[in-house]
Amino acid sequence: MLTSIKAVGTHVPQGVLTNADLERMVETSATWIRERTGILERRIAAPNEGATDLAVMAAEDALSRAGLRPQDTDLIVLSTSTPDSTFPSCAARVQERLSARGPAFDIQAACSGFLYGLSVADQFVGSGEARQALVIGTETLTKIVNFKDRGTCVVFGDGAGAVVVGPSSDGAGIRSCVLGSDGQGGDLIYVAPGAPTPEGPGRPEIHMDGRKVFRFATEILAQATLEALEKAGVALEDVSLIVPHQANARIIEAAAKRLGVAPEVMVNNIAQYGNTSTASIPLALREAIDAGRVAAGDFIVLVGFGAGLTWGACVLQWEGGGAAPN
Ligand code: UT7
Repeated sequence: MLTSIKAVGTHVPQGVLTNADLERMVETSATWIRERTGILERRIAAPNEGATDLAVMAAEDALSRAGLRPQDTDLIVLSTSTPDSTFPSCAARVQERLSARGPAFDIQAACSGFLYGLSVADQFVGSGEARQALVIGTETLTKIVNFKDRGTCVVFGDGAGAVVVGPSSDGAGIRSCVLGSDGQGGDLIYVAPGAPTPEGPGRPEIHMDGRKVFRFATEILAQATLEALEKAGVALEDVSLIVPHQANARIIEAAAKRLGVAPEVMVNNIAQYGNTSTASIPLALREAIDAGRVAAGDFIVLVGFGAGLTWGACVLQWEGGGAAPN
């Protein structure tokens, strides 16, 4: 049985952090950030706003767009690098707030997490174990960014995206997923405790070798896309949209060149949100849908990479008739 996406929902915090704001916080310039990353602003969660809060809003948005009842959800797979607690999982917290049932668990594959989650949910739905699953990517990365490190603080932002998935009603749906991991690249991006302060232990901070990750990213986006297409038996020429992880506009451009596809095939909405890690693919997909770039029957590739190192790609045919309006 094929699994299809019924609707995509999103939620971003109200707070906006612009490049001009960052100029006042760290030695950088708005021009550098725009030219080197494509980012103009990012959203920033309030101190009392956690990954669960963003996830619940995104999930409710997806369910309401699908015209489905939260309490009928029978699986929640949630991806985050910034859970509100080690346990209970964010997924269990979301389940409680939606009055949903069935298994609910978090997965951790950094920026590739949404694709890992989609692949897991695809297998639950494909085997008949779930009929209304939520896959959620949610991040409050600005809580683990060192705002004195210009190599990372200009890049990351907060947000959440969610999809409702279930059995396909018209033969369209997820055609393939490929996932990969190479632990040897673990020290290229990682989170470690910050230096202790007089107030107590340092809070966790992201460390990244941006240049090396950049090189890996441009290669893996193209490679994972081609592998997933081959597995699905779909030709690159038949793909109308590629929704890549939004890490850097230049990475997206380089991947398009490497694949030999027109720039307009790639979705790029990094300007407004920065790199929201596992939330970036559903945030970009939602925007593409809103812009009328997705039609029933279209072949779409979702592709990402991140810490681990990890990567993933899913090829899907967009559901038509049976799907509720997005
Ligand atoms: O989603 C998780 C995966 N993460 C990524 O995919 C991130 C991938 N990497 C990147 O997006 C880019 O590497 C960055 C945006 C992080 C950095 O851009 P870059 O063009 O690779 O810069 P760089 O690290 O090669 O540094 C070039 C110069 C350096 O100065 P010198 O040594 O040439 O004098 C840096 O010190 O730019 C300097 N620099 C900055 N200058 C102003 C680095 N960050 C900044 C900054 N503002 N924020």
